[in-house]
Amino acid sequence: MDVLSQLAAATLVPVVVLHDAADADGLAGALVAGGLPVAEVTFRTPAAADSIRAMADRGDILVGAGTVLTPAQVDTAVAAGAQYVVSPGTSRAVIERCQEHGIAVLPGAVTATEIQAALELGLTTMKFFPAGTSGGAPAIVALSAPFGGVQFVPTGGVGPANLGDYLALPSVVAVGGSWMVPAATVAAHAFATITDLTTTAVELARS
Ligand code: 3PG
Repeated sequence: MDVLSQLAAATLVPVVVLHDAADADGLAGALVAGGLPVAEVTFRTPAAADSIRAMADRGDILVGAGTVLTPAQVDTAVAAGAQYVVSPGTSRAVIERCQEHGIAVLPGAVTATEIQAALELGLTTMKFFPAGTSGGAPAIVALSAPFGGVQFVPTGGVGPANLGDYLALPSVVAVGGSWMVPAATVAAHAFATITDLTTTAVELARS
């Protein structure tokens, strides 16, 4: 299965901020135990690359690199074993470096202009970020009229209360969010809580 099919199968993508790479293995295990073998590890901390490496080495979880802002971070993510790259915006430099590596990339796009920029670079699946403040599900419906072939992964302000609004849309392949991986819970090594939150989220997404 290719990466986009795996994301679609997972339906939910936990967006992770890890401050200590030593927590990565435990967190990955908690997500897998909760039925969600996928994580977007964000380059918002210096621990990102080592965290990606620790998760990728397990072999039982799809690991993406998130918050990738530069081509150099693409190189770092690929070297660490990331299987796909996510960027908050549509950067030609980031996308082209991903394409050079042959790694899947989801650029962020919430306007018609951003979507067209990503389409011109050959991409049809995009992160709709930040979803909540960019019009939410109604904005995706409106954008899907002219961009019928585009698929979205809404992220940012997505949670249990509005998950269903997004997943009901045919152009939404998956949603991302951090609600099942609260930073404080990860830092406290409360991995059983992460598994519970993940199990609940998976059940909600299926219902
Ligand atoms: C992201 O980078 O995708 C977001 O920070 C996740 O947004 P959330 O914390 O509102 O779920």
